[in-house]
Amino acid sequence: MKVTPLRAALAVLLLACGVLVAAVWSELRGPALPAAEALAPPDAEQVARGAYLARAGNCMACHTARGGAPYAGGHGIETPFGTVVAGNLTPDPETGLGRWSPEAFRRALHEGRSRDGRLLYPAFPYAHTTLMTEADVDALHAHLRSLPPVHQANRPHTLRFPYDTQAALVVWRLLNFTPGRFQPDPAQSAEWNRGAYLVNGPAHCAACHSARDALGGASAAFGASDLPDGHWFAPSLSDPRQAGVQQWATERIVALLQQGRVDGASVMGPMADVVFHSTQHLQTDDLRAMA
Ligand code: HEC
Ligand code: HEC
Repeated sequence: MKVTPLRAALAVLLLACGVLVAAVWSELRGPALPAAEALAPPDAEQVARGAYLARAGNCMACHTARGGAPYAGGHGIETPFGTVVAGNLTPDPETGLGRWSPEAFRRALHEGRSRDGRLLYPAFPYAHTTLMTEADVDALHAHLRSLPPVHQANRPHTLRFPYDTQAALVVWRLLNFTPGRFQPDPAQSAEWNRGAYLVNGPAHCAACHSARDALGGASAAFGASDLPDGHWFAPSLSDPRQAGVQQWATERIVALLQQGRVDGASVMGPMADVVFHSTQHLQTDDLRAMA
């Protein structure tokens, strides 16, 4: 058989399709992880560190229903594709994370995959928690394991077709998600790197302060963004014509994140929640690094 350019092109095309199908298939078919063996109780220092990181990550705000038990889930997050419900993170064995091993917890935060192998919706900011160190993720797990278990089954998500399929998540992930830990920039100071880690990792500031495309992918990090609920606009933190914080003294940004207001500026709506639940509880050194 003669190899014509057309045949060669066809072969390449077939090969490319094969590779794509294999990639999608391996993404779809993540293994379920076994239930945890009885874990030793978490140590107090790890729990305290995890509690602090949970503040920075504002985990409780999403994982608590209005008026509900802390971390017991049931809070719906509205997106243009439907509502995604954040689940129960308390150590209840049936409805919470009681049977999760540290490995399963790491896989959820680093790879966005649940213990049963299901891909998670990016309303959970795992595109940011993927940057967190293993020690910090384990500390978060320790903190959650120290909570009183609450037996409360999760409400189902109400997403429109085709967004309710795992295939839609594979597409989103191919376009928008690269798992990987934070890489410090050796040209910058330790304080700069600590700030970059907190802002881009656990505190996921860019989850709101980034422009998003029609498929919900973040483009232009720290550009401005209409929030997915359709009501709020998070200003660009890098464009001086918007929030203008580049021209602020560091201490003024720190004060805003601590108190929610400074002379001439105050936070509102979703940002007021961020200050109330998260940044006001952080150490001043960390806020300065973030600023
Ligand atoms: C902006 C809201 C939001 C924040 C902040 C958030 N989550 Fe979530 N989280 C979600 C949603 C929504 C889901 C459900 C995703 C799904 O089911 O596909 C989820 C799922 C999870 C899961 C998987 C649960 C399961 O049963 O598979 C874990 C673990 C988790 N979150 C831990 C955390 C931790 C730890 C933090 C803080 C660092 C955090 N989340 C911060 C919204 C959030
Ligand atoms: C849940 C979405 C959300 C998250 C997460 C979020 N922000 Fe915001 N942010 C907003 C919105 C909406 C505004 C605009 C309303 C306002 O100015 O209060 C805003 C405003 C701001 C402003 C400008 C205030 C002004 O008056 O110009 C700063 C500074 C800021 N955010 C910093 C941060 C930092 C730092 C983080 C990470 C710790 C963060 N934001 C995380 C939604 C968010």
